[in-house]
Amino acid sequence: MPPLSTQPYKGTRDFFPADMRFREAMFAVMHRVVRKYGFDEIDAPIVEPIDIYLAKTSEEIVGQQIYAFVDRGERRVAIRPEMTPTVARMVAARFHETPKPIRWYSIPNVWRYEQPGKGRLREHWQLNCDIFGAASERLADLEILNLAVDLLKGYGATHTHFRVYVSHRGILNGVLGDELKLPQEKWPAVARIMDKKAKLKNDAYTAMLDAEGVTPAQQKELDLFLSEKIDYLKQKPQIEGASYIIEMLESVADLGLADFIEYDPSVVRGFDYYTGLVFEVFDAHPENRRSLFGGGRYNNLVGAFGKETLNAVGFGMGDVTLEVFLRTHKLLGDQPRNVDLYIALMDDALGGHALALANKLRARGLSVEVSLGAGKLGKQFQEAEKKGIARVVIVGENEAASGVYAVKTLATGEQVALKAEEI
Ligand code: HAM
Repeated sequence: MPPLSTQPYKGTRDFFPADMRFREAMFAVMHRVVRKYGFDEIDAPIVEPIDIYLAKTSEEIVGQQIYAFVDRGERRVAIRPEMTPTVARMVAARFHETPKPIRWYSIPNVWRYEQPGKGRLREHWQLNCDIFGAASERLADLEILNLAVDLLKGYGATHTHFRVYVSHRGILNGVLGDELKLPQEKWPAVARIMDKKAKLKNDAYTAMLDAEGVTPAQQKELDLFLSEKIDYLKQKPQIEGASYIIEMLESVADLGLADFIEYDPSVVRGFDYYTGLVFEVFDAHPENRRSLFGGGRYNNLVGAFGKETLNAVGFGMGDVTLEVFLRTHKLLGDQPRNVDLYIALMDDALGGHALALANKLRARGLSVEVSLGAGKLGKQFQEAEKKGIARVVIVGENEAASGVYAVKTLATGEQVALKAEEI
């Protein structure tokens, strides 16, 4: 039998210590920023009854990407492809006892059977921030957009690095249905073509619309809608969501976020549960013009779990796309190890003394790695250096007897003699 592969399952990652440090640094900013907005953290099982995804999520996810199986008790279950149905389930479960508005966040790993590529894997971690039951949906939407911007600012990003594109579910439906008078069954296909427009040559784009039976007159209207952007909405206030977006952008400007947030009619978002605001955050780097994360308002999902319903808005931000963004813009790089001291041992017989010294130092809040076997000092200094530890405490016979230790700073070679409580 050939040896077993050391590779993780396709589209997943092992997290070695350096990867884990980077991930923790990314997550630390998430926790810090999100908590500043009063969000409470939650978590849930990775496996859910498949039903919670069948009702309302995305056709692509349920049809092609879900990891589903029948368990030993004949239950049809799925590994979560996203967190939103789970959060809605949890809100419904504690509906009455939880003070509103509910602000919950989580950083779950989620699974989708996708073709792995840059920024796209089968397992990723996804910060989810959601607000349920706000008296003013408009204010909740604004706060979520504000938080989305603040998160990236938390990594040092500015408006030159990213842009938030907003739209409203009603707008596209209004344009395709009321303005173009396209039959409803054509909407998803036309929306997909619009979504791809930026990547298509003009001829190809037109040919695809022709193939869907979109007439030249309808295509002209569609072009106006896409190119005139906010002016188109101002001319057609009867479209559902048009005045909402116009007013939202005014509030955004009042908050000082006009440089970060703009209206983009081509924002679609592929989930069935969105009912109002939808938004997508894009990297502004010319070589990494990809979606970083997205979200929107979904007012009917909690209701699927019981009598009571609750309005909701939120977003999901994946760690894979975020890492590409942070590294491309050099906002976050490799993280150093965080061990303060290395105790070098000159004689195995002093091992007990070294361990006790390490404990004393740890009790004072330092992190300390003890050499687990005596050796040449030079070699131990090298070991400490390779491990990224800046300072070494030397434990030899004299030190053990006097309780005064040589503490060496490896980078400079500087050495001082200190008692344990002075280190
Ligand atoms: P989503 O757009 O499917 O939305 O995913 C949100 C983010 O998760 C994406 O923008 C991306 O950063 C990351 N992501 C998704 N799929 C992958 C993948 N295969 N590989 C790497 N990263 C990925 C949702 O999942 C909604 N439930 C978000 C939401 C929360 N809406 C309201 N609340």
